[in-house]
Amino acid sequence: MIYKLNILCVYLLITTAAAAQQATYKELYRPRFHFSPAVNWTNDPNGLVYFKNQYHLFYQHNPFGNVWGHMSWGHAVSNDAIHWKHLPLAIPEERDTMIFSGTCVYDAKNTSGLGTTSHPPLVAIYTGHVEGKNQSQCVAYSNDEGIHWTKYPANPILDLHKKDFRDPKVFWYEPLKYWVMALMYPVEHEVHFYSSDNLLRWKELSHFGPAGDTSGVWECPDLSRVPVENESGTYKWVLQTSQNASMQYFVGEFNGVTFTPESTETTVMRPDYGLDYYAAITYNQLPAASKPLAIGWVNNWNYANAIPTSPWKSAMSIPRELTVRKEKGKWVLLQQPVASMRSLRLPPYHFDTKNISEKEQLLGFTSKQCEIEFVIRPGTTNKSGIRIAAGLGHELEIGYDAWKGVLYLDRGKTAVQDFSPEFSRLHLAEAPVQLKEGKLRVRIFYDNSIAEVFVNDGEQVFTMQLFNSKREDQLVLFSHGGSSVFESFKAWPLRSAW
Ligand code: FRU
Repeated sequence: MIYKLNILCVYLLITTAAAAQQATYKELYRPRFHFSPAVNWTNDPNGLVYFKNQYHLFYQHNPFGNVWGHMSWGHAVSNDAIHWKHLPLAIPEERDTMIFSGTCVYDAKNTSGLGTTSHPPLVAIYTGHVEGKNQSQCVAYSNDEGIHWTKYPANPILDLHKKDFRDPKVFWYEPLKYWVMALMYPVEHEVHFYSSDNLLRWKELSHFGPAGDTSGVWECPDLSRVPVENESGTYKWVLQTSQNASMQYFVGEFNGVTFTPESTETTVMRPDYGLDYYAAITYNQLPAASKPLAIGWVNNWNYANAIPTSPWKSAMSIPRELTVRKEKGKWVLLQQPVASMRSLRLPPYHFDTKNISEKEQLLGFTSKQCEIEFVIRPGTTNKSGIRIAAGLGHELEIGYDAWKGVLYLDRGKTAVQDFSPEFSRLHLAEAPVQLKEGKLRVRIFYDNSIAEVFVNDGEQVFTMQLFNSKREDQLVLFSHGGSSVFESFKAWPLRSAW
C-alpha cells in the first residue's frame, strides 16, 4: 500500500511539474498579478499561514483535471503575498477521502506532539469528505516546513457523523492560551466554536447563527481580530461566512468562548458586492504589527466549472488588509489591497481634471493590466464612471448611479459570455455607497480577466470576472444625464508578478 502511495506521489509530482512547464502565464485570459495554479482547477484558499517570513497559500485543487474533483491541497509560497512560487502538491486525496477546505497553524510549542520542541510542526486541520457519506475533521502535519505532509494516523479527530460539517478555521487565542476552531454546520447556518489544548481533542464552546443571509448553506467561517482604524491598540472581531455565491460579515466581540455581534443593522454586510468572491479566509500568525490579510476565491459556483480558461481554472483575489471603522453608528469592514501591490506600479498616466458632460471621453491609455485611481464628483448626473476592457463594441462598465445611490459593475457588454447561461444572467452587481463631501474615491485593479474595485478606502469592494480578447483594452470615462468632474485621475500599468 505504501509502495502504491509512493508511486502516486511521484506521479503527481512529475505530472504537476511537467504541466507547470506548459503554463506560460501569458495565456489569453491569464491574470498576471493574481495567484492562479499553473494548471488545473482551484477553488477555496486553504491553510493561510505566515511562517518563517513566508506567506503560505494552500488551495483546493484537482491535480488531475480542470474541473472540480479529486480535491487535494495545492501549495505555493511568497515573500510579499504577490509573487508566488509553486510547491509540490501538499495533501493529496486519499482513496475515497477528498481533502476539503481547512486551516494551517505553526504549532510553535509542539502542543500536538506531532513534531519536537526543537522542530515544531506545521499542522493542517481540514475536512475529510467521503462522497455521499460523512464529513469529519482531520489533521495532517509537516516536519519539513510544509513540503511533505503526513496524515495523522488516528484521523478523524472530530466526527459527529454529519453529512455537512466542514471548513475548520483554527487560531491561537492568547488570553485563554488555547486553540480555537470555528467550524461550519452548513445546513443549520451555524458557526460552532471549539477549543483545544493540543489541536487533536476538541471541546465545543458555543455557536453563532443563523443570522443575516441564510439563503444558501453556510461555508468557510473565518474569525479574525481586526484593528479599529486610527485607534491604535483597539480591535473588533470580524466573523465572515460564505453562502450562495456571496459572503457576509459580522463585527463584534469574541471572548474566547462566544462571538457576540455588535452590528445592529438588518441589512446584510458583505465583504464583496461583486459576483466573483467567495470562501475568503485570513492569514494565521502574521507578524504582530501586520493587519489581518484575507484572500478569497475569484469565481462563482453558478458557473465556476464552465469558465473558458485553460490550462487552469480560477484564481485568488489580491490579498486584502483589513481594518474596521464606525460609520454613522455602525461597524464597517475596510479592505485595502496588500501594500506590496504598489511594487508592481510602472510610471503612471495622468489625466487632467475635467468636466465630463453628456459624453464619453476615450483616454490616451490602453491596458489590460493596470491600477486606476480617481476621485469623481458625480453631481446630479444620472450615471457616470469608467468603462474598461473597452473596444470592438464591448466593455465592462463601472459606474455610480446617482438616482439609486449605488456603485455598480455591469459586464453585460463583455465579449465572451456564451460558455454559461448563468454567467450572462448574472452580469450586474451593485451596492449602496456614500459620497464623502460629494465625492467618491475609486481604485480599480484590472488584470486581464479579473477586475477588483475598491470604493472609499475599501468600504465596498467588488470582484468580477470578464472574458474578452487582447484588443479590448481601452478606457473610457463617461457621464450620462448631466455633468461629472473627474479629479486626480491616474492609471498605472502594472508589472506581471509571474
Ligand atoms: C466552498 C466549498 C467548501 C468545501 C470546498 C470543497 O467553496 O464548498 O465548503 O470545503 O468548497 O471543494
